[in-house]
Amino acid sequence: MKIIAISTSPRPISNSRHALNQAIKYLYNMGVETELYDFNKLNIEPCHGCDYCKMNDKQECSIKDDMQEIYESLKTADGFILASPIYMGQLTAQAKMFLDRLYAYFMSDWTEKYGRKKVAVLVSQGQPDEDLYRTNIETYRFNFEEILNFEFIGYTVLTRNNIAGSIIEKPQQIEQAIDLVKLFL
Ligand SMILES: Cc1cc2nc3c(=O)[nH]c(=O)nc-3n(C[C@H](O)[C@H](O)[C@H](O)COP(=O)(O)O)c2cc1C
Repeated sequence: MKIIAISTSPRPISNSRHALNQAIKYLYNMGVETELYDFNKLNIEPCHGCDYCKMNDKQECSIKDDMQEIYESLKTADGFILASPIYMGQLTAQAKMFLDRLYAYFMSDWTEKYGRKKVAVLVSQGQPDEDLYRTNIETYRFNFEEILNFEFIGYTVLTRNNIAGSIIEKPQQIEQAIDLVKLFL
């Protein structure tokens, strides 16, 4: 089994990335092949909307940036986990960019070719109410399931995490992240 981890926090000391790291370490120890992509260290552009991916059933993106490596890796992965802070009530712009770049697989037989990938979402936020931004997470679920034909296996929300690195003192939130990735197994 191979699971890809996508981190979208721009913070050098990031709560969501820390939880993601611990979760994929758990998977690694269970014998799962893991790969971590840190969006903020990569050169990834927003979708150009050129529709190249829709021409002649190409199913590939015209932008030759670091997203190409993720596209390649996704082909052989069983699934991926997208980690994001909440910014202004939504997942980050980087997470949205990742989602938009998957448009290359919309209305194509990509899933038939490469399998129905499992998807999990890990969110970190300042607010204490874990349901506060559920609508936004549900929008991601809808896009992953209904538009991209992936299997959305679940999500978890880590709350009260305004301070960079505050999660280090919260072992129960690491457990939450690990419980989420156990759904891949
Ligand atoms: C620009 C910005 C907007 C934010 N908006 C929200 C918000 O709407 N709701 C919330 O609960 N937290 C909000 N936060 C707090 C972050 O979600 C929180 O600090 C999160 O744990 C950061 O994750 P990270 O450490 O992985 O970057 C915001 C933080 C920033 C920098």
